[in-house]
Amino acid sequence: MSWLTIAMPKGRIFEEAVQMLRLAGFQLPSDFEDSRKLIIDGEEEKFRFILAKPMDVPTYVEQGVADIGIAGKDVLLEEQRNVYELLDLQISPCYLAVAGLPSQAVNEKVATKYPHIASSYFRKKGEQVDIIPLRGSIELAPLVGLADRIVDIVSTGRTLKENGLVEYDRIIEVTSRLIANPVQFRLKYDQIQYIVQKLTPITKKIGAVSR
Ligand code: PRP
Repeated sequence: MSWLTIAMPKGRIFEEAVQMLRLAGFQLPSDFEDSRKLIIDGEEEKFRFILAKPMDVPTYVEQGVADIGIAGKDVLLEEQRNVYELLDLQISPCYLAVAGLPSQAVNEKVATKYPHIASSYFRKKGEQVDIIPLRGSIELAPLVGLADRIVDIVSTGRTLKENGLVEYDRIIEVTSRLIANPVQFRLKYDQIQYIVQKLTPITKKIGAVSR
């Protein structure tokens, strides 16, 4: 059996994803969650994990330096990379929403980490807006007058609430997905399918709890 390289998203999704792999019965290094290393080998399973920024995971997988990876549906929609989506892992549920100050009637400038998703949303609505791409703390933009609206992830809703912003529309529900490089999927089919089979029952349990 050859080694399998798995691109993992650093940050929020990471711990849930690691926990899920452990629940599926995979033996992972005990210091996995505490390490600062960007490449971590799991000798028992012959897994090589590479730890990337969530938005970059599809790039590593598309380029084939990772065979498979874990990425949010938001990232997949924004990045539009040539990867296979194998399984909805049901972890890290949240949604993409349009939000802004409660009283603001204008809708001309939209700040977001998701310029493609936001452009396509407003195009479909027939609204012409200027997209202002930002890298984080998107909720700040309407508070300081940089934008009228934002398109961003809402998880608990705390960030919107604590900054006095309201939701105007929900664009799409988001969960994390298992993705694969199309060529490696064929070459390492049995190995990758084995992982899908081990993870599937857990996704069903998580799905049942979160519904
Ligand atoms: C995300 C998102 C919101 C916040 C939503 O940001 O962009 O700002 O979380 O979560 P909530 O609904 O539970 O409050 P993140 O913390 O990932 O950092 P960022 O602002 O740097 O993107």
